[in-house]
Amino acid sequence: MDLISNPQRHAPPVTFVIFGASGDLTSRKILPALANLARAGSIGKDFSLIGIARSELDDQGFRELIEKAVGSPCPEFEEIISRAQYVTGEYTHPDTFVALREALEKASGVSMGNVTYYLATIPEMFGEVASELNRAGLTKPEGDNFIRLVIEKPFGRDLQGAQVLDDTLHKAFSESQLFRIDHYMGKENVQNLLALRFANAIFEPIWNRRFVDSVQITVAESLGVEHRGGFYESEGALRDIVQNHVMQVLALTLMEPPSRIEADSIRDEKVKLLHAVEIMEPDQVGDRVVRGQYLGGIIEGKQVPAYRQEPGVSPNSTTETFVAMKLNVDNWRWANVPIYVRTGKRLPARVTEVAMQFQRVPHLSFSSKLSRDLRPDMLILRIQPDEGVSLNFGVKVPGPEFKLQSVSMDFSYSDVFPEPPADAYERLILDALIGDATLFIRSDEVRQAWRIVEPIQKSWADNGEPLSTYDSGTWGPVEASRLVQVDGRSWHLS
Ligand code: BG6
Repeated sequence: MDLISNPQRHAPPVTFVIFGASGDLTSRKILPALANLARAGSIGKDFSLIGIARSELDDQGFRELIEKAVGSPCPEFEEIISRAQYVTGEYTHPDTFVALREALEKASGVSMGNVTYYLATIPEMFGEVASELNRAGLTKPEGDNFIRLVIEKPFGRDLQGAQVLDDTLHKAFSESQLFRIDHYMGKENVQNLLALRFANAIFEPIWNRRFVDSVQITVAESLGVEHRGGFYESEGALRDIVQNHVMQVLALTLMEPPSRIEADSIRDEKVKLLHAVEIMEPDQVGDRVVRGQYLGGIIEGKQVPAYRQEPGVSPNSTTETFVAMKLNVDNWRWANVPIYVRTGKRLPARVTEVAMQFQRVPHLSFSSKLSRDLRPDMLILRIQPDEGVSLNFGVKVPGPEFKLQSVSMDFSYSDVFPEPPADAYERLILDALIGDATLFIRSDEVRQAWRIVEPIQKSWADNGEPLSTYDSGTWGPVEASRLVQVDGRSWHLS
């Protein structure tokens, strides 16, 4: 099944089983997404819901939890809620899976034996749950039925951990049953990269080293770590954002055209691209990667604390909340085109974008005085917020002189499509129910992304976690500006 072969986008009969049903992700993202899918008519009377968690709840308690998470009344979801079942138990205990089997049997009259499991537990439980499901004989579909497992990042903590997790998952499920979520792939304008590049004749011919000077990918957040300090301490920006979200955006931006817009064609191209990213030598990391942590500062007029003062964070923490790096892609299309990426918390704004800077004309016929305000041409894909595309180029300033200035031609999704985009989870959960793996991460993609990140982790560990600092509300440490300045460039947002 692919993006275009199921235009109605209606899920087949299915039982949706949430592991971690009483947790934050379930209430914040999964249940509201399911309610919206019911509202849109994408799931209906043949959809059943089972929640599993350690918290002591009964079916009625779970139904109340769902109603609370959904918030506003949703008549289309009520019937599904009224049949929802809950299993209390340890994820490592066989009894839990005996109870799950009974619940599945009860639901199967409606959902015809199709099952989608969703792992919303702590990551340490991913492998355990998959193994227990396997031991209980709940992973192999019969006949034309399907059984799938949706799993959230982090996919391991390093290359080896990812491999161990994959081996465990593959003992229980085949790769085609696994749907690894990276919620950035559910964002409209990430998918729009495919449309922009491969549905238009004007961009692809210049999408290469002959015309592109450099590429910048920025994933900036104005929020700090909020209530996730404890989790974030052992994570850091490299693992939390670069290994997954940044690598996905980078792969879609730079990959070769897939022969078809379908799961494996796209994922093959992403893997090829990630494989072409140059792996840094340990002695290159110091020059090419900047690692930072936020101090206190002012964001949107409000004083905010330093990372080390956040709840759950050690006062001596060396965890990075900012990373900037320069990557190279060793292939014919991108040789010698620097790819700058950066991500950070407590930056001045929440903005994710890809900015492609084009080369200057070979010879500028205008005097340097007249062209002083001419910036390099740039194509900017705004992934969030204010999803859209801008093209910056030079024009003549009206008047007697031939003075040049850069201007921007803007397309904003909201101007043309007033309906706000669906939440990424809504899109991705429906895709998993339908069986469309196009926007999900294949196991070899995960490995390739770790391959790029691992030498950086290692170099930091060997060199005592070098750390720069930056005031909250600024664009990161000065070293991040220097990273591009030494190459004669500047960040598009700074
Ligand atoms: C998550 C990270 O994957 O993405 C968070 O764990 C981060 O730290 C979040 O805040 C950002 O997502 P979005 O959709 O708000 O850009």
